[in-house]
Amino acid sequence: MLYAPSIDLRPFHVSDTAFFARLASDERVTRFIGNGQPWEQQTIQDRVTAALRQDPLDMVGASRWYLVTEANEPVGIVVSSLKDEGVEIGYWVSPDHWGRGIAGAMVDGALATISEVYGTRQLVARVDPANAASAKVLTRRGFQLRSSHDELDLYTLA
Ligand SMILES: CC(C)(COP(=O)(O)OP(=O)(O)OC[C@H]1O[C@@H](n2cnc3c(N)ncnc32)[C@H](O)[C@@H]1OP(=O)(O)O)[C@@H](O)C(=O)NCCC(=O)NCCS
Repeated sequence: MLYAPSIDLRPFHVSDTAFFARLASDERVTRFIGNGQPWEQQTIQDRVTAALRQDPLDMVGASRWYLVTEANEPVGIVVSSLKDEGVEIGYWVSPDHWGRGIAGAMVDGALATISEVYGTRQLVARVDPANAASAKVLTRRGFQLRSSHDELDLYTLA
């Protein structure tokens, strides 16, 4: 990537729900997420509600989401959630912007923020082994493949 895209990251607001719903309803985006199918409206609403609930950060399941913008337009979402293994991150880029280094830039921007918010550097990600672009985003940033469960590879930040 010659130039990293210039992006901004801010906490997800309820008004960002339509953008998230667009991603979650797009089969290109959900191909490697969950059962691979676009999400139902109810699932979208439930996940947004949980993300906005601001559960205490030491509670397993506590989520914090971030909207990523480029020139004030939303281009992606970074999600984080406390799990037993550490803080699990996920990242979704709008398909119009794939292949431009947005995922790399937004994970770069999110790692420090998420570590600081949860007070831990123990970050993990679960990736479908066929999702080569996602695995590359992680390994480029020092994540290492630790194990595989339920057909997903578990990466941890070394
Ligand atoms: C996976 C995803 C986040 C990648 O976003 P992106 O902005 O296109 O990624 P980038 O442009 O930053 O590319 C990341 C790396 O993957 C590489 N890459 C891109 N597409 C690739 C492909 N099909 N196969 C292999 N590598 C690929 C890029 O060259 C880049 O490598 P580099 O660091 O050596 O330049 C995006 O496709 C997406 O949102 N997918 C749907 C949601 C998803 O699967 N999220 C991950 C779940 S854990």
